Amino acid sequence: MILQELTLYQFRNYDHLRLQFNERVVGLCGPNGVGKTNLLDAIHYLCLTKTYFGRSDAGNVKFGLQGFRIEGNGRVGSSPFQVVCILRENGKKEMQLNHEPYTRFSEHIGRFPVVVVAPDDVVLVTGGSEERRTLLDTIISQFDQGYLQQLIAYNRILLQRNSLLRQFADIGGPDLSLLQVIDEQLSSPAQHIYEKRKRFVETYIPEVQQMYQMISGSKENIQLRYDSPLHFKTMPDLLRDSFDKDRYAQRTTTGIHRDDLDFVLDTLPFRQVASQGQRKSLLFALKLAEFQVLKNHKGFSPFLLLDDVFEKLDAERMNNLLHWACVSNQGQVFLTDTHQERLKEALASLSVTVQLIPLSE
Ligand SMILES: Nc1ncnc2c1ncn2[C@@H]1O[C@H](COP(=O)(O)OP(=O)(O)OP(=O)(O)O)[C@@H](O)[C@H]1O
Ligand SMILES: [Mg+2]
Repeated sequence: MILQELTLYQFRNYDHLRLQFNERVVGLCGPNGVGKTNLLDAIHYLCLTKTYFGRSDAGNVKFGLQGFRIEGNGRVGSSPFQVVCILRENGKKEMQLNHEPYTRFSEHIGRFPVVVVAPDDVVLVTGGSEERRTLLDTIISQFDQGYLQQLIAYNRILLQRNSLLRQFADIGGPDLSLLQVIDEQLSSPAQHIYEKRKRFVETYIPEVQQMYQMISGSKENIQLRYDSPLHFKTMPDLLRDSFDKDRYAQRTTTGIHRDDLDFVLDTLPFRQVASQGQRKSLLFALKLAEFQVLKNHKGFSPFLLLDDVFEKLDAERMNNLLHWACVSNQGQVFLTDTHQERLKEALASLSVTVQLIPLSE
């Protein structure tokens, strides 16, 4: 899968821009604030119909204007594709594949798999469990359409349950029959999501370990464990057993929304002992393993978008990483850096052909 051309109108800092990509390895260089990350985000929009950075669509329109348009042209194997994402002036978003608009965006998810690594992503390692659940969900939903629907259903019912729990506190007399109905409704997607996550980590965890070994040059050993309350009890049992606690807390304290991925570094809790470079190594391992799993499912490489790659890693790890990303991996990779020379030198040592695109204000 190759993106050959990217055209932007009124997207972030760009009025109108057309870029041609003629290599598998593309370096985007330029000073801070020039719009490197914005370009990666435009590619992310085309693949997953939304920004990578959790902003509103309207926040991506060039200041003072209305609406944006992103167009990507390329090919998967020998078949050409055109993907267009339009935010209309009335705020409505449209996605088109080969001039055909989608009725449901979820149909687009997974057709153009993508993996992004950006500096703030280190919260995946250092932050709360929600970040890691989102990682699992993003990956699984790129190869399993039903998963996203189950997740949406679960989250909707969870909100209803929490709102009912709050009402108990207001009114006093709990409507236990309604709660029972909601608990039944919640159990089916919970069990489904749990099974999918459990099956997924069976292949994902060994991939992460292997990637960590590759990046660190086998200097450290990392263990990962999928934690879920559903390991021990079924969802109906969990809900029944936590009823008093939930009523007191006025929210649902158990379920797949409490799942986590735990990391251990050479027998010690990773988050407490790891250095910044080790955290960054684990971040890359998590993301490259995502890449590998998606690749195995799709049969071709996702786009790999590496933002500010040179932060925090030592020369050896950097070299291991770049070698994997640009040489071993056969897919297209977009890298950004503020220093064109640094990027050029690092890639020259790998003897791959690179297209360097200098960006200026
Ligand atoms: N909606 C918008 N309209 C116009 N300009 C915007 C909008 N949103 C962001 N910008 C501008 O885009 C620039 C930031 O772009 P981006 O984050 O892509 O920079 P970058 O090249 O990745 O920089 P760095 O090297 O610091 O990461 C800023 O100058 C910001 O003012
Ligand atoms: Mg940036």
